[in-house]
Amino acid sequence: MAPEIRRSLVQHSRLRQDPHSVLRRLLERVPPGTRLDEPTKELEQRIADLLGKPAALFFPSGTMAQQTALRVHAERTGRRTFAAHPQCHLAVWEEEGYNAVHGLRHRMVGDHNGLITLDDLAEVREPIAALLLELPQRDIGGLLPTWEDLVAQTKWARDGGAAAHMDGARLWEAQTYYERPFAEIADLFDTVYVSLYKGLEGTRGAVLAGDQETIDTASVWRRRLGGATPDAWPPAVTALMGLDEVLPRMAEFRDHARAIAAAINADGYARTQPEVPQTPLFHIHLPAPKDAVAAAAKRILEETGIELPQRPKASSDLTRCSIELTVGVVSLDFTPQEVAELIRQLR
Ligand SMILES: Cc1ncc(COP(=O)(O)O)c(C=O)c1O
Repeated sequence: MAPEIRRSLVQHSRLRQDPHSVLRRLLERVPPGTRLDEPTKELEQRIADLLGKPAALFFPSGTMAQQTALRVHAERTGRRTFAAHPQCHLAVWEEEGYNAVHGLRHRMVGDHNGLITLDDLAEVREPIAALLLELPQRDIGGLLPTWEDLVAQTKWARDGGAAAHMDGARLWEAQTYYERPFAEIADLFDTVYVSLYKGLEGTRGAVLAGDQETIDTASVWRRRLGGATPDAWPPAVTALMGLDEVLPRMAEFRDHARAIAAAINADGYARTQPEVPQTPLFHIHLPAPKDAVAAAAKRILEETGIELPQRPKASSDLTRCSIELTVGVVSLDFTPQEVAELIRQLR
C-alpha cells in the first residue's frame, strides 16, 4: 500500500486530489438551476477578459490546446514547422503528438539549458508557422526572458509572418515577475494557452485564447480531436474558484519560494536554479546521483509522511541530479529552514 501523505512539498493542491472535498466545494459554488454550459462559458469569458483577447475556449488539456493552436497556425500560414525551446513541454512530455497527430515539425531553438535569445532565432532560416515561448521555461528552473527580450522575440516571429504562441501553463505565476497586467503580456502573442490545474489548483483543463477567427477554427479542431465538452462544468468551476482565491496569492507563493531557496543556498548542501526564483517554481541541484535521491525521498515519505519530489532528473554529470519545487497553498506551512533540512537528507 502507498504510504499516507501527511504533508507535501509537491504541487498541486490537496483539493484536486480529494474528490470528496471537491464535491463539497462545488456544491457551494453551483447554485440550483445552473445550466450545463454556464460555468464553462463564464470561465472562457473571464479568461478572455483577463488576457485582453476577443475569444477563449476551454480544452480538456493543455496538450490538446497547444497542438490545436499550432495546427491552426500551420494551416493559416501553409507552413508545417514551429520553433520552440529544446526542452519545451511538447518536446519532452507529449510523445511527439504535434508530429504523430498533426504532421508538424519542431525546429529547436536555443541552448538546451538556457533561454532562447534573439541570436538563436536569427539562425532559423526557414519559414515557420509559429514561435512557441514557454513562460516560464519549466525544465530549466522556471526561467523567464526579460520583458525587452520577450517583446523583441515575439516581434521577430510576427515580422516573419509567423504567429507568436505562448505556452502560459504558468502564466499566472510568471505575471508576478513582469509586474504588468496579464493583457499587456498576452498582447505580445497571437494565441495564449493557460492551465487551470497548476497554479490555479483546479481539477484539470486548459483554456486557449486568441482572436475570434482563430478560436472558431480551434473549436473545429477540438471537436475533431474529441475534446468538445461544453458540459465540462466541474473543472470550469474549480478553475473559477482558483481565479478568485489562488490567483491573488501568486506573489505570496513566489516570496515563500525565494525564502526557501535562500535557506537552501545558505545551508550549502544543494543549490537552487535560479539562485533567486523568478516564479514559485524553481529547481534544486543536488550533489548526489538520481537513484540515491529517489530512494531518500521514498524513505522520508515512509518514515515521516512528508512528500518530496519523487522523480529526480539526472544531470549530465551523473553524480548529480535535480528536482523541481513549486510553492503553492500546500507548501506554505513548511518553514524555509525545515525545507533546507529535508533537502539535506536527499543523499
Ligand atoms: C509548460 C507546460 N505546458 C503544457 C502542459 C500540458 O498540460 P496538460 O497536462 O493539461 O496537458 C504542461 C503540463 O504539465 C506544462 O507544464
